[in-house]
Amino acid sequence: MSPSPRNGPEQLPAWRRLGDLAREVGQAPAGGGEAFARRVGPVFADYSKERINARVCKALVELATESALPAAIADLFAGAHVNATEDRAALHTELRKPAGEAKAEVRRERERFLRFAEDVRAGRCRGLTGERIRAVVHLGIGGSHLGPELAVEALGTGRGDGPEVRFLANIDGAAVERALAGLQPATTLAIIASKSFETLETRVNAETLRRWFLPLGSATDAVGHHFAAVTGNTAAARAFGVPAERLFPLWDWVGGRFSLWSAVGLPVAIALGQEAFEEMLAGAHLLDTHFAFAPLAENLPATLALLQIWNTNFLGATSHAILPYDHRLRLLPAYLQQLEMESNGKSVRVDGEPTTTHTAPVIWGGEETGGQHAFHQLLHQGTRAFSADFIVCARPGHGLPEHHEWLLANCLAQSKALAEGRSAESPHQRVRGGHPSTTLLLDALTPESLGALLALYEHKVFAAGAIWRINSFDQWGVQLGKALAATIHEQLRTADAPDQDASTRSLMREIRRLR
Ligand code: F6P
Repeated sequence: MSPSPRNGPEQLPAWRRLGDLAREVGQAPAGGGEAFARRVGPVFADYSKERINARVCKALVELATESALPAAIADLFAGAHVNATEDRAALHTELRKPAGEAKAEVRRERERFLRFAEDVRAGRCRGLTGERIRAVVHLGIGGSHLGPELAVEALGTGRGDGPEVRFLANIDGAAVERALAGLQPATTLAIIASKSFETLETRVNAETLRRWFLPLGSATDAVGHHFAAVTGNTAAARAFGVPAERLFPLWDWVGGRFSLWSAVGLPVAIALGQEAFEEMLAGAHLLDTHFAFAPLAENLPATLALLQIWNTNFLGATSHAILPYDHRLRLLPAYLQQLEMESNGKSVRVDGEPTTTHTAPVIWGGEETGGQHAFHQLLHQGTRAFSADFIVCARPGHGLPEHHEWLLANCLAQSKALAEGRSAESPHQRVRGGHPSTTLLLDALTPESLGALLALYEHKVFAAGAIWRINSFDQWGVQLGKALAATIHEQLRTADAPDQDASTRSLMREIRRLR
């Protein structure tokens, strides 16, 4: 059957209007300040440096309406099976509801894992030798790692005297050695976070940690006293030896990259304490309420999604830079890479037809102001079209105001330079400008504002996916590499790889020769 673009967004009248507008709109930023800015709780978004105008904004909102985005949002919150290929709901918003509104099972499990976190923080949770737990090593990868580490790095300094929290995601032995360096088995707790409990990296790292704890006692006692687990596969975690009271379930309606708000956030609760964790949930819930009820023209996640579509599908941007002007948010680019690229890096629509428009751009970025002395040259004078988000806090989290003034000044200077460029006689000094960006200004970095910021991006991703008509909640593309690695792993040991391609065989031969 030949592919039909019948149900693609490009068939919508608003999409065609946007195509016409893209030919008219120039390089200049929208300007007009407040007309292109919006505040939702602790997040102030300025998108007046995007290459838009009032007509573009109107057509973008029409695109969202014609795409039935409001119905998609209603379905998301109602628990419809929006993850069609896995026949599942995506109800991460349930996890952020206040106690009075949350489902009973969510409330019960939240209370359990937060109580456990407080026990670990207060020293009531002891190891096999009776010593206090002084370090927590969180084992998990992808969605079971990126959000928790980001939140701990963003908020985890200077909050009480709980144990040190470390993260081990990579299967690389160097990462294992670094994660365990200086730690004592008797005073360490390992958390296995894996929705499937089948992920290679987490499984292998958990086995290594189990061996590390073994000198403390029998396998049953060592695992029983030094492991906790967060998983949707509780049977596998029990088989590993994790006792029921340290096992925290994950529901199939919580996607890995949307799971920070569940017990996957246990290391965050251990690092920050229950109160701060609940503030983070409250910040996310505030965004949920906004996304669910704000009209499209005022809906911030929908606006960011529409701007991404405008930049990607109409202005030719192939990548989107995440530029946090805040040392504490230096892991945000990596977190958003998974959130955006695993969710919307798709070329098949929900109806099984190939997409006929581009979907997610490449997401990349880095901590500023370091990037200014590294990759900004390409941003200012390179040949590629891109868009960017600047993220910065009005108030610092430290006592060095003169540093913060410079940070703020640099952030504003860079978005201005990207937008306006500079004319100069010498072509070598000319800066073209015309690069669109949005600035997300947080009042300050708090659990509440971080929760709001991350939920804003989650909903942006869903809204863009809905308009592109793709399923933002599956990730079938990652399976192929996993299957190939299992075969190659076996063949590397047996020295027999007749079915491999020439390049792989030659690399395997060379590896065998070198080791
Ligand atoms: O390989 C991709 C992936 O499935 C992600 O979607 C997920 O967040 C990560 O692996 C970890 O999966 P799990 O939590 O099941 O170990």
